[in-house]
Amino acid sequence: MKGLRSVGILSTGSYTPEKILTNADLEKMVDTSDEWIVSRTGIRERRIASDDQASSDLAYEAAVKALQKANISAEQLDMIIVATVTPDHSFPSTACILQDKLGASKAAALDVSAACTGFIYGITIATQFIANGLYRYVLVIGVEALSKITDYTDRNTCVLFGDGAGAALLGPVASDKGFKSFDLGADGSGGKLLSVAAGGSRNPATAETLEQKMHYLSMSGKEVFKFAVRVMNNATETVLSQAGYEKNDIDLLVPHQANQRIIDSAVKRFGLSEDKVVVNLDRYGNMSSASIPVALDEAVNEGRVKDGDKLVLVGFGGGLTWGAAVLVWGTEEYVE
Ligand code: ACO
Repeated sequence: MKGLRSVGILSTGSYTPEKILTNADLEKMVDTSDEWIVSRTGIRERRIASDDQASSDLAYEAAVKALQKANISAEQLDMIIVATVTPDHSFPSTACILQDKLGASKAAALDVSAACTGFIYGITIATQFIANGLYRYVLVIGVEALSKITDYTDRNTCVLFGDGAGAALLGPVASDKGFKSFDLGADGSGGKLLSVAAGGSRNPATAETLEQKMHYLSMSGKEVFKFAVRVMNNATETVLSQAGYEKNDIDLLVPHQANQRIIDSAVKRFGLSEDKVVVNLDRYGNMSSASIPVALDEAVNEGRVKDGDKLVLVGFGGGLTWGAAVLVWGTEEYVE
């Protein structure tokens, strides 16, 4: 980021729907048990959007909180980036719908599709626009209504996912604060391991695709698990070394919340104590692109993030994709 403006997170916000789906509820729906779900994933409950809530509705709640916290009005936003695999529609983008709901009349708006890595992709894109001086305030939201594409007769997937939204307002910060490094990656050859087969131009919706349940999310859990452990650790190492930090420098790891065992592998690899890792998957399950920003917002609200702390945000998911960032925390806006 040499010669460019330093960019950081000025505020965060999050929202999760009221309805809770517990492991006990799932025991009544599919052949599973609380014991299996907790021991294999760490998840105890997840939030489910109501019938009339789409992703933009969840995103709106998180966005308003982030804007209020920073005392920035929607009209001041230069850009809105929404990371989601569960957009309200194919188009218009969820970011455009949100732009209208917020009244962010001068903001450019676009969606990013990178599954669980979407928020990391989003903040990396946002940072470029602010760093080069084109924009000042970019709102990045990770939001999912995964319950809408989950097959609640498939025990392999339905125990894992939940709905929610997390927002971060990015803007200029002092040069000793803000994002110090990013690592983004993709391996499209693994796309089929995690996908929704129909509803796009390859398999448009027909009576047959509906009957074959091709509009639901499908996943080869074991393969994705191995991939996740590998890229999460590699991406974390890459961003640490690019920022010139050692693993002992990490004050807080905010990982994607897919599986406690995946997080444990990073905890072991980087020798982190429990207080240095944010985990909320027990309460929310995997919210894909919303997992990291919701976890970050909760950590901030609980007072776990202090000025000058070195954070690693790291995610992985469908695409396949992965991404990580090192962020030195500091929410004070830099005014030239
Ligand atoms: N309840 C009971 N048994 C189950 C359940 C369930 N809910 N789900 C699967 N099983 C069974 C399987 O059928 C299998 O039985 P079998 O041996 O008789 O065939 C057995 O449990 C073991 O299944 P595995 O798939 O080997 O279980 P594993 O230990 O790998 O755990 C899991 C599965 C939790 C899905 C894990 O592989 C995982 O977390 N994968 C990664 C998921 C992930 O990270 N996704 C990230 C991105 S998501 C996104 O981008 C949208």
